[in-house]
Amino acid sequence: MPTTFKTQKSNEKIPQPPPHAQPYAPPPRATRKRPAIDNHALALSVTITLAILVLIGVPIGAILPERYVVKLPINILVPLYLEPESGIKWDRLFEGIIKHRELNFTVIVDPSNGPSTPPHPGSLYVEAIKRLNVFPNVHTIGYVNIEHAHRDNATVHREIATYAGWATETGLALHGIFFDQTPSEDIGDAKQYLKSASATVCHSDGFLEPKLVVHNPGRVPNSSLESYHADVTVVFEGAFEDVPTRDKIRAQLNDRSGGRSDYAYLVHSMPQENGKIGLRRLINGVRRDIQWLYVTDRKENVYGDYSAHWEDFLSLTW
Ligand SMILES: *[C@@H]1O[C@H](CO)[C@@H](O)[C@H](O)[C@H]1NC(C)=O
Ligand SMILES: *[C@@H]1O[C@H](CO)[C@@H](O)[C@H](O)[C@H]1NC(C)=O
Ligand SMILES: *[C@@H]1O[C@H](CO)[C@@H](O)[C@H](O)[C@H]1NC(C)=O
Repeated sequence: MPTTFKTQKSNEKIPQPPPHAQPYAPPPRATRKRPAIDNHALALSVTITLAILVLIGVPIGAILPERYVVKLPINILVPLYLEPESGIKWDRLFEGIIKHRELNFTVIVDPSNGPSTPPHPGSLYVEAIKRLNVFPNVHTIGYVNIEHAHRDNATVHREIATYAGWATETGLALHGIFFDQTPSEDIGDAKQYLKSASATVCHSDGFLEPKLVVHNPGRVPNSSLESYHADVTVVFEGAFEDVPTRDKIRAQLNDRSGGRSDYAYLVHSMPQENGKIGLRRLINGVRRDIQWLYVTDRKENVYGDYSAHWEDFLSLTW
């Protein structure tokens, strides 16, 4: 039973020192495409200015009108690799979505380590996914494992086509594909493979706009692979204790053209004893570099069930 936790709204808006750890920035731009101005630099300079003013005792509410004090948004990227079981098992997801209308959820559906047999997965899945798709703050995408570009090309294309085919069933259409185990090194025909897989999604009629292609190399891929048509790249997937420091990830992403909206983290094995404070520190520590996030305390079969902190994760992200 999680202990109740009262968020003090007013306190939330007053960052604490040290100044380099502040998640505050101007309102995000509506577009996910690269902005003309360096959003990053802008956010950072505003953050530093605010932090200095706060340090000398000026309350943040006195500096900026309320509507400008906006946290950098985080999209919840949910690897939903669990069966709906007559709807019951997805309830905590539905509850979180309903409670957090202010958060956007991108839910990776994975009926059977892929789309299951065409045309549709079983009726439980169909009903549960349809229920998910009703929410305006949810986009669903399909899971395809490409096994470091070793998986048979034709199979991958067939799975993409199967997901795209779901659009023939009212309310079942997806927004794109999550490619798992994409290569991080530019060797062999990795580039060509990624390009063709991603392009297939972009050119399929069955996916809803805005279409989303996610690559999961689980680490920062070679820069030569980066432009291969991913909208979002998971640049870290791993245990909490291995989450890169801010300096490290920034150094690795230094030569990239992308911004925070292009990057995701999937973090597991978050120690329970770190509690809400640890969770908050993690979220605020990464939010200036990445926009897509999932955190779980599970250590095994990490996406096979909910984190004990699922609800806290959602509350603290906003
Ligand atoms: C959620 O997505 C909508 C567009 O689908 C966007 O307008 C809104 O700003 C997003 N909210 C957050 C918190 O990212
Ligand atoms: C996969 O197929 C596409 C065309 O269908 C082709 O362009 C691409 O090179 C193929 N990739 C591999 C690794 O065979
Ligand atoms: C490519 O990525 C691997 C690890 O994924 C790394 O060891 C290697 O240095 C990278 N090469 C370049 C040219 O970035």
